[in-house]
Amino acid sequence: MRFVLLCLSLTLSATPSWSQEALGLMAPDEVSSSGLLQHILPRFSLKTGIRVIAEDSGVMSLDQDPSGDPVFARDGTIYHLHIDEDSARQMRFRDWLLSDIGKRTIESFVPPQGTPFRAHFEVAATKKALEIDGDTTRGQELSFTHCGRCHVIGPQNRMNGLGSTPSFAVLRAMPDWSERFQAFFALNPHPAFTQIEGVTEPFAPERPSPIHPVEMSLSDLEAILAFVAALSAADLGAPLQLQ
Ligand code: HEC
Repeated sequence: MRFVLLCLSLTLSATPSWSQEALGLMAPDEVSSSGLLQHILPRFSLKTGIRVIAEDSGVMSLDQDPSGDPVFARDGTIYHLHIDEDSARQMRFRDWLLSDIGKRTIESFVPPQGTPFRAHFEVAATKKALEIDGDTTRGQELSFTHCGRCHVIGPQNRMNGLGSTPSFAVLRAMPDWSERFQAFFALNPHPAFTQIEGVTEPFAPERPSPIHPVEMSLSDLEAILAFVAALSAADLGAPLQLQ
């Protein structure tokens, strides 16, 4: 018995990462059917011993939700990779896609149909599309200042959001997003720390805000709404993936 266990543990420790469970990657149809993944995934696996397979329900996903890392683009659509930052293997995949070798591998793919994928592109292009007018720009700034402490607003504060708090992209994908944003100050947990000039009652003296309060005006909220509304401009077409 001892001997069997010993053999077993030797086998396990000698097992290369190759035989670890493959990481699933979910991608939109136009990416799956282009042949790109069949081109890049085996090359990544060969290099790292980490197997990634295209799946309908992957632990990693590619979509247009800008809260992920922009990894490649085609015909003006930027695809973002969403991974679990706690997984070293998923981080490795992301870093490889963003590396020079990864980018070259993506760009070396000649699709049987349609235009090639690009891995070198200006992410600023998305930002520009979001900044439709002054209000949206102000709304973006206000979102980062007031909401970015807890919510992931975009790639810039991807690391700061609180895990349990829905990202703006996820909220924006809800059919009634605008009602939720218009009334956010009345929806938990916000009333405890939010003051909107001329709208909310001052905090009760015996119940002061537990954190540095969010203090803003209705026009600030309008600007935030304009910014969140414009988030859709970057996502035209495919619906956002809800995590
Ligand atoms: C201190 C942390 C914090 C700050 C700051 C914050 N939020 Fe939230 N927000 C949350 C949490 C947590 C939830 C999720 C509540 C839930 O799921 O019950 C949430 C949910 C929401 C929702 C969905 C509410 C619902 O019930 O559908 C909206 C809309 C929202 N926040 C907008 C904002 C806006 C706009 C700002 C900035 C002006 C902001 N939040 C600032 C923590 C915060």
